[in-house]
Amino acid sequence: MNILVLGRNGQLGQCLLDVLPRVYPNAVFWGRQQLDLEQLEGIEPRLSAQQPDVIINASAYTAVDQAETNSALAYTVNQHAVAQVADYCAKNDVALLHVSTDYVFDGSSQRPYAETAEPNPSSVYGASKLAGEKAIAASGCRHVILRTAWVFSEHGQNFFKTMLRLGGERDTLRIVGDQIGCPTYARDLAFALISVLKRVENGTCSWGLYHYAGGRDVSWFEFAEAIFAAAADIGLTVPKHVMAITTEEYPTPAPRPAWSVLDSSLFTHAFGHPASNWQTAIEACLRALNQPSQ
Ligand SMILES: NC(=O)c1ccc[n+]([C@@H]2O[C@H](COP(=O)([O-])OP(=O)(O)OC[C@H]3O[C@@H](n4cnc5c(N)ncnc54)[C@H](OP(=O)(O)O)[C@@H]3O)[C@@H](O)[C@H]2O)c1
Repeated sequence: MNILVLGRNGQLGQCLLDVLPRVYPNAVFWGRQQLDLEQLEGIEPRLSAQQPDVIINASAYTAVDQAETNSALAYTVNQHAVAQVADYCAKNDVALLHVSTDYVFDGSSQRPYAETAEPNPSSVYGASKLAGEKAIAASGCRHVILRTAWVFSEHGQNFFKTMLRLGGERDTLRIVGDQIGCPTYARDLAFALISVLKRVENGTCSWGLYHYAGGRDVSWFEFAEAIFAAAADIGLTVPKHVMAITTEEYPTPAPRPAWSVLDSSLFTHAFGHPASNWQTAIEACLRALNQPSQ
């Protein structure tokens, strides 16, 4: 099976690079240098030359706040480029595994979002990702879309790494305590995609839209506390005081969903793969970051 991964330099792309070649040694990884998704007319010829059987799209325009003022770029990468990839897949019988976001929801629910819940994005980023999902469905290609949330890992930029950095620099940290979500370890997401690949390979894939995120919901404040507890255990410097604040006290250009809890049970049922365990992942991430470089 010829697997092509787009977005090799992102968090998920790097985690896929860590684990996928062990299972599929011939998987090919492309970053922006190999395929710039802003160059829409170049997508189909590049993919045709590669002739993959499966494409994993780990790339996206993910600058949530900048998207509010740069919506054209967000829609180019998250909708129009995705549509080009999906159309190529439909025409050439290629399977597409794509990643989307909890930000397609407005966060006004009080119970975990199932795949049947009605999306209503409140940010440009969320709307552009939803448009990408719709383009995939409209293309008619065989696809699995995994909506995920609050992704963190030892790679790239994320809340986990920001907390470790700020925790080493400041005595007091103020963290939003009234947004609830499901932290997801990017490496767990990479393994979830491998579970899907195995089903694609043996012809038993249940195509469609799924939620895949952390199995326990938590506020950013509680997530930070868990990070600092694990960091303190291995002797890292952590802040003396961590205080919960409200979203109002930490305004951002793009609104965030207040309740961003994804129900991953449909995916677990269909693919026999558990939700991400962010508690153990914090320790795994700390170990990965503290490994001496080779
Ligand atoms: N991070 C989260 O908390 C979160 C939450 C929910 C859903 N998701 C979704 O999960 C997926 C993976 O996210 P992530 O955290 O791994 O994102 P990320 O670290 O920001 O990586 C995204 C990758 O997309 C690439 N990319 C952006 N524009 C491109 C272009 N024009 N051409 C080619 N490549 C381009 C970037 O390339 P460069 O490195 O060259 O910039 C980057 O490597 C995305 O679909 C995202 O929407 C993420």
